[in-house]
Amino acid sequence: MAQGVLELEGLEEKAKASGASQLVVKDLKEEFVRDYIFPCLRAGAIYERKYLLGTSMARPVIAKAMVDVAKEVGADAVAHGCTGKGNDQVRFELTFYALNPELKVVAPWREWDITGREDAIEYAKKHNVPVPVTKKSIYSRDRNLWHLSHEGDILEDPANEPKKDMFMMTVDPEDAPDQPEYIEIGIMSGSPISLNRKVLSPASLLTELNEIGGKHGIGRVDMVENRLVGMKSRGVYETPGGTILWTAVRDLESLTLDRETMQVKDMLALKYAELVYAGRWFDPLRESMDAFMDKITETTTGTVTLKLYKGSITVVSRKSEHSLYREDISSFENGQIYDQADAAGFIRLYGLPTKVRAMLNKGV
Ligand code: ARG
Ligand code: SIN
Repeated sequence: MAQGVLELEGLEEKAKASGASQLVVKDLKEEFVRDYIFPCLRAGAIYERKYLLGTSMARPVIAKAMVDVAKEVGADAVAHGCTGKGNDQVRFELTFYALNPELKVVAPWREWDITGREDAIEYAKKHNVPVPVTKKSIYSRDRNLWHLSHEGDILEDPANEPKKDMFMMTVDPEDAPDQPEYIEIGIMSGSPISLNRKVLSPASLLTELNEIGGKHGIGRVDMVENRLVGMKSRGVYETPGGTILWTAVRDLESLTLDRETMQVKDMLALKYAELVYAGRWFDPLRESMDAFMDKITETTTGTVTLKLYKGSITVVSRKSEHSLYREDISSFENGQIYDQADAAGFIRLYGLPTKVRAMLNKGV
């Protein structure tokens, strides 16, 4: 799931030097965005109020590809380099379980005597495996098309402000252009399809938005989260394009969903996010919720215009052919359908329980 050519450079030699007989590289970008990111976007999935699940969504697509390759080459085991303290091990292994319960899993961090990142670097050095981290910069990072995560090093103290030079996808909002930029996102049934009226594939759309969002310092999140394995951890995320898309889709729903539908959707989104975070992508519960989300976002079609300025996103315009908003009803000017006189009776009945309770308390 490497993103750029640079990340692939030297991999073949590294694999061979590490004892591999073959290196398989797969381009899963479109699949990742279409089948993993967009469903989460449609669902409005967000973990603990802030985390847009960038790493969580990526693990099942990688693990699925590993299971496929294992089948192709007739391997009986798969391995991963996750520590034994995090979420990723769970996500990889639950996907292995779900897709091929017979595969053996090798997790060196848990099985050998590697107990920290320093040990891991030492081990790699001893065995001539080049790793792109030094002991000085020891951030644990994960990058994909949706986001870049930073954990570890000085971030391990939640009181430390991240250093300016840590960020890689976004400029510091203070250094972003002094001129705002307007962009229009086209959305069809809850999935983004175009940017400034240009129809783009899921991965190209996200790539362009990362560029634009990054330039304006959009989508930085700094949080302390609850890991599945019980501990809290501090993470800093950069999700420029994703934050734009998330804001746009959510805003369009304000036109197309009625109150109760939105409420139920938001309740389920919480659970949906939890399942994705916990590595249960291939769980029938998430799949069934997906069916619900598909149905409920059928009418989430239209355009949203956003203004990007120094780290902020402001929605300035939204339009949908399925809009439930009617100016002839909502306008403060006179309308035909809504009769203000009806409101008096509505309030009397709607407020009846409130009134009865107050009467009881007052003894009237
Ligand atoms: N805390 C985030 C999550 O659990 C990010 C994990 C990043 N993983 C990594 N191997 N650097 O989704
Ligand atoms: C790891 O433990 O490998 C990274 C962090 C995580 O999985 O949560």
